[in-house]
Amino acid sequence: MCGIIGCVGRGAETLDTLVHGLSKLEYRGYDSAGVAMAGDGIALCKTAGEIDELRGALADRSLAGSVGIGHTRWSTHGPPTDGNAHPHQDCHGDVAVVHNGIIENYQRLRDELVGAGHTFTSDTDTEVVPHLIEDALEAGHDPEAAVREAVSRLEGSYAIAAVVAGTEAVFAARNDSPLVLGIDDGATYLASDVPAFRDFTDRVVYLADGEFARLDGDGWTVTDHSGDRVEKTVDTVDWDPEETGKSGYDHFMLKEIHEQPRALRQCLRGRVDEMAGSVDIDDLGDLSPTGVQFVACGTSYHAAMYGAHLFRDAGIPAQAFLASEYATATPPIGDALVVGVTQSGETADTLSALRAARKRGARTMVVTNTVGSTAARECDHALYIRAGPEIGVAASKTFSSQLAALNLLALGTTSTTDTREIIAALRDLPGDLQRVLDESAAEAVAETYVDSDAYFFIGRGYQYPVALEGALKMKEITYKHAEGFASGELKHGPLALVTEKTPVFAVVTGDGEQARKTVGNVKEVEARDAPVVAVTDGRSDVERYADHVLEIPETHQRTAAVLANAHLQMVSYHVANKLGRNIDKPRNLAKSVTVE
Ligand code: F6R
Repeated sequence: MCGIIGCVGRGAETLDTLVHGLSKLEYRGYDSAGVAMAGDGIALCKTAGEIDELRGALADRSLAGSVGIGHTRWSTHGPPTDGNAHPHQDCHGDVAVVHNGIIENYQRLRDELVGAGHTFTSDTDTEVVPHLIEDALEAGHDPEAAVREAVSRLEGSYAIAAVVAGTEAVFAARNDSPLVLGIDDGATYLASDVPAFRDFTDRVVYLADGEFARLDGDGWTVTDHSGDRVEKTVDTVDWDPEETGKSGYDHFMLKEIHEQPRALRQCLRGRVDEMAGSVDIDDLGDLSPTGVQFVACGTSYHAAMYGAHLFRDAGIPAQAFLASEYATATPPIGDALVVGVTQSGETADTLSALRAARKRGARTMVVTNTVGSTAARECDHALYIRAGPEIGVAASKTFSSQLAALNLLALGTTSTTDTREIIAALRDLPGDLQRVLDESAAEAVAETYVDSDAYFFIGRGYQYPVALEGALKMKEITYKHAEGFASGELKHGPLALVTEKTPVFAVVTGDGEQARKTVGNVKEVEARDAPVVAVTDGRSDVERYADHVLEIPETHQRTAAVLANAHLQMVSYHVANKLGRNIDKPRNLAKSVTVE
């Protein structure tokens, strides 16, 4: 997830407008940034780091040109370096392109272009686009047709903006990544999100998948893939510029919870072949570990517990360790793989455990959201979860994407009998999750229990890590006492804490033995007069003993965990909101914990 801006008609203020727009889009990515202005030629400036680095790089330069594009990056292909920062150019420096999304067929296109004599200067998938435009221009197409021709070769998700030397226009195309035009008198803008230009105009045109836009001195036009004009509605946004960055949500965390279906699509995109019933992930090679040790902290540890369960289900011995306790683990043996799960890739405890594993001769892998992070650089393999930037300190969408990525890892490195069933469940997961988010009764549950003394969460099997994560989220953002337990463990002591003032959230999915046993544990709770909130697909009879029900659609046990967790995230969010907590920056916490 990156941020794109384009602007036509601001004259001498064009560059400032672009940089201002990028600063409003920094929530979408902030590991490198750049701008390109088109006049007779292309003037370009880009740098690794946040927008302030770009401002510094621009301080002693003046970029000539009357139209321009800009980009703030969240790396997916290649680490955050000056060279990988956007815009990217063709061989002659006559074309500049910025891109958000993932071009799935980039390697094939790149091989073809290199074979035809093009020179590449970055590791990105994006760079194929300016070279394709270059070829189309050389074949005699005008710039607009050249962009259309180049885009017709792309597979995957993209929002693209391009400028061409000698043409006072910005060209854009969209497929599965957002793009919106901002319409003002005498000026037109293009961006990944409205905040980028909301300070200048409230009139917007949302592009749909498959549409192209041209912004020039005469205004704007939108066309389809064959160049036919598309009539668009100009909408008016009804929120203030101050709300920028959160896309209208009250908190980044709420926005990130709602971004989960999209983040999951990004995680799965191009990695699952449903027809063949197989999973294909770059950088895994032919890994087939004889055992797996997971190391992680906090939320990522809960994902690691889930990951270990996936491997055990496939008959591979696997265990999850708190990274800070890994020193006490039995050393990995034989072909064992040690997998660090860490959204930031910078958590000191996890880095230290991975280094210890390497010293013991193990192969290491990181499952992370952060390209170019220390863990990604140091491990033998990196599997990116592609969740996009997470600004809220408490992890939300990165947890769901970790679970999805761990499923891919397990499917890609082991053999299980129900691979097709799991792949189908993963395919349906983003849509199922959208339904859960749209219909969740979590706010009403939060309203009922906002004044409770403490909250307990129980689950078995794949739902045990969900219970732990539900409790962690509740603690972190509400500052209330919360504990998660394996359902069967409650009666071995913690039941003493259960009263009529302590709601128990029971995650019960499926109709097998695990569900039946958890329903038994729920009855024990009910007998102590504790309110019960069942998070369930309705296949067991837990609802009979529940005061409230948070429903999820029927799915595989593994994907049910992601859906159940979304309800629990929403409950914690709404309790915290009702208590007036600082949800995006809870007390005493940091997004990346770089001390042991
Ligand atoms: C919980 C949370 C922390 C992190 C933990 C590990 O919401 O954010 O518990 O999960 O500090 O961080 P990463 O995943 O970056 O290693």
